[in-house]
Amino acid sequence: MSTDDWKRQAAEQALSYVEDGMKLGLGTGSTAAKFVELLGARVRSGLNVVCVPTSEATRAQAEALNIPLTTLDETPALDLTVDGADEIDEELRLIKGGGGALLREKIVAVASDRLAIIADHTKRVDVLGRFPLPIEVVPFGLAATKRLITKLAEDSGCDGEIKLRLGSAGKPFVTDNGNRILDCAFGAIDDPEALDDALKLVPGVVESGLFLGIADIGIIAGPKGIEVLSGIEIDFEEEI
Ligand code: A5P
Repeated sequence: MSTDDWKRQAAEQALSYVEDGMKLGLGTGSTAAKFVELLGARVRSGLNVVCVPTSEATRAQAEALNIPLTTLDETPALDLTVDGADEIDEELRLIKGGGGALLREKIVAVASDRLAIIADHTKRVDVLGRFPLPIEVVPFGLAATKRLITKLAEDSGCDGEIKLRLGSAGKPFVTDNGNRILDCAFGAIDDPEALDDALKLVPGVVESGLFLGIADIGIIAGPKGIEVLSGIEIDFEEEI
C-alpha cells in the first residue's frame, strides 16, 4: 500500500458520512482531492449535494466533475466539511496550510456543523510543529509583521526560522485572497493555544494554520488500518 492508497482509503471512509441533500465544504490538497474525485462519482450516479470549495484549485476540480457548487454568501451554514491536514494530534488539533488555502479552509470549516479530517498516517503526530506552521499575512508591512510574530512566538515558547513562502520563478507565493504566507519552523509547539492567542495580537496576521477545537473527527489510514479520532477516543476499525 502506498501513501496514495491510504489517502484514498481515508477519503472513502469520509464519503460514508455524506447523505443526500447535504451542504458540504470541500477541502484543499492531495487528500481532499481524492474525496472530491469520489464525491464526483457519487454525484454522477445521482447523489444530491451542494458544495463550497475552499480554494480555486478545488473549485476547478469540482466544476470539472459537475459537482454543484455554491458560496457561503448563498449558503452560510454547511453540514459537513471534509479536508486534509499537514499534522493532526490526538486532541484533533491541526496544522494546515501546506497548500496555502488555510484562510478559506478555516472559514468554511467553522461554517460547518462538522469538520472531518482525512489523512494518511504520516500526518499523525504526538506534538504539533514538525511541519512548519503556515501563517497568512497581508503584504503591507510584512517585515514588521514578521518581527512581531517572532517576538510574540518567543514569548509563547516558540522560536525558529520564519520564511516567506515562494511560488513559481522564486516570486512570493500569493494566496487565493491576495495575501502572503510565512512558514514558521518552530519545531515542537508545546502550547498551541498560547501561540494561537499570541498570533491573534498581530495586526498583519490574517489567520494561522493552527486549527484548534475545530475538527470533530479524524480519519487516518495507514499500515495498521484506519484510526478514527473522535474527541479523545481512538478506535482501530479495520485491519488491512
Ligand atoms: C491546504 O492549504 C492544506 O491545509 C491541506 O489540507 C494540507 O496541506 C494537506 O494537504 P495534502 O493532503 O496534499 O497533504
